[in-house]
Amino acid sequence: MKEGRRSWASLYAWQLTRNSDAPLFRQIYAQLRAAILAQDLRPGTKLPSTRQLASQLSVSRSAVVSAYEQLLAEGYATGKIGSGSYVSSDLPEAIEGRRPKRSPRRTSITAPLAQNFVDVTARDEERPFNLGRTLVDARTTALWRKSSARVFRALGHDHFGYSDPRGLPNLRKAICDYLRAARAVRCEPEQIVVTAGTQHAIDLIIRVLQQGELQAWVEDPGYSLTRQALIAAGVKTFSVPVDAQGIDVAAGIKSAPKARAVFVTPSHQFPTGVVLAMARRLELLAWAHENNAWIIEDDYASEFRYGGRALASLQGLDDNERVIYVGTFNKALFPGLRLGYAVVPPALSKAFVTARYLVDRQPSSLAQAVVADFIEEGHFAAHLRRMRLQYRDQRDVLVASLRQRLGSELTVDPPDQGMHLVAYLKRGLNDTTIERAARERGVIVRAMSRLYVAAPPRSALVMGFSGYPRRMIPPAVAQLAKAF
Ligand SMILES: Cc1ncc(COP(=O)(O)O)c(C=O)c1O
Repeated sequence: MKEGRRSWASLYAWQLTRNSDAPLFRQIYAQLRAAILAQDLRPGTKLPSTRQLASQLSVSRSAVVSAYEQLLAEGYATGKIGSGSYVSSDLPEAIEGRRPKRSPRRTSITAPLAQNFVDVTARDEERPFNLGRTLVDARTTALWRKSSARVFRALGHDHFGYSDPRGLPNLRKAICDYLRAARAVRCEPEQIVVTAGTQHAIDLIIRVLQQGELQAWVEDPGYSLTRQALIAAGVKTFSVPVDAQGIDVAAGIKSAPKARAVFVTPSHQFPTGVVLAMARRLELLAWAHENNAWIIEDDYASEFRYGGRALASLQGLDDNERVIYVGTFNKALFPGLRLGYAVVPPALSKAFVTARYLVDRQPSSLAQAVVADFIEEGHFAAHLRRMRLQYRDQRDVLVASLRQRLGSELTVDPPDQGMHLVAYLKRGLNDTTIERAARERGVIVRAMSRLYVAAPPRSALVMGFSGYPRRMIPPAVAQLAKAF
């Protein structure tokens, strides 16, 4: 064992009482013995030298020597005073006999979060066609290493201390420039708050808007992590149907006119891929303005646009500053990065930054500095250009394979944007049955009917194509065909 791992004993949280009836040597002995028996100090742990411990506890060295002698005499410690004492691996009492026995039955967990929400462990599967996966090519990997090395070489005060809870100024400026150019977002760097990604931004928004009962519209079908985060926080959610024009604003107004928040994915509705029509955009903005409601625009995966007419962001159309725009690097780069951003309207800025500060103070300076360097060097734009081509190719291979193998079972159109497609089932087959059968053959598809809450569900398979190189796609579709 390394010295560093043995020496936790020197950090032990001592509680000595000077005017107690028990002499100090006895207190030191008793505490060490209790820690050894509880295995807080594990067998083999090196005890601090008597001189060191005496000085740490401000007691005489003889008190420590007496305590150690007693531990050595009783077999709790081995070695020699003066040349190093260690916690014995052969204890006089059987440790198990002293420790409370664990019940062989597993305690049942009743916390609502454990009962009613997603099984997070199942989400890490890397098999096709799991959603939200990205590819990082050799060029991006090499350039990412370079940016990281440059940041690490320049390590200094800026990285070690506390910094602006909104994020590093140069990263916020880089994000702002990108959003203005690519998404017509109206912003100043002061409005950008760097987050850990969409999920973190949603959590902060809930904290900022929740005063008494908060009512919110969510899309139906929609992104289940948004809905679940809202429900978990006690927000009253109203599922508003999505049609070929996007979220049905009139239906939302009818069911919850007093809602203060609307969570939407206007540029590529999740999961349907529908673009929110211009008339609906204007209707939603007008309603939010009149009702002091906030629109949360989740612009996930807008970086991957393959063709068709791209609509600028909803935020860019908003003259009344009612939109909170949310974006993520976890899709544009890779999910393990955990960095994203929100563009916060000035009226919410102070509350948003306060919430951020109270939750986790600030984003990690090092990760931000690497992303900032990567963007400033032009690597981010180049990465997006390359991945756009690659994801488009993977999309096309998937569409062609599905049409070839499962043309009689599925209807599929290539989406103009994003990282997944929807294949509608033709013969009234149950998508959850196919989902299960596919999983048994090592293929992951998401049953779209499970993403509906109140609206009549459509039976379809939601399939991610971004995370899987073209060679993996036809064999996985062949397995999927067997599941039918
Ligand atoms: C609708 C939607 N928004 C956002 C995200 C990204 O979330 P995050 O940045 O928390 O990884 C995803 C990922 O799958 C998504 O489907």
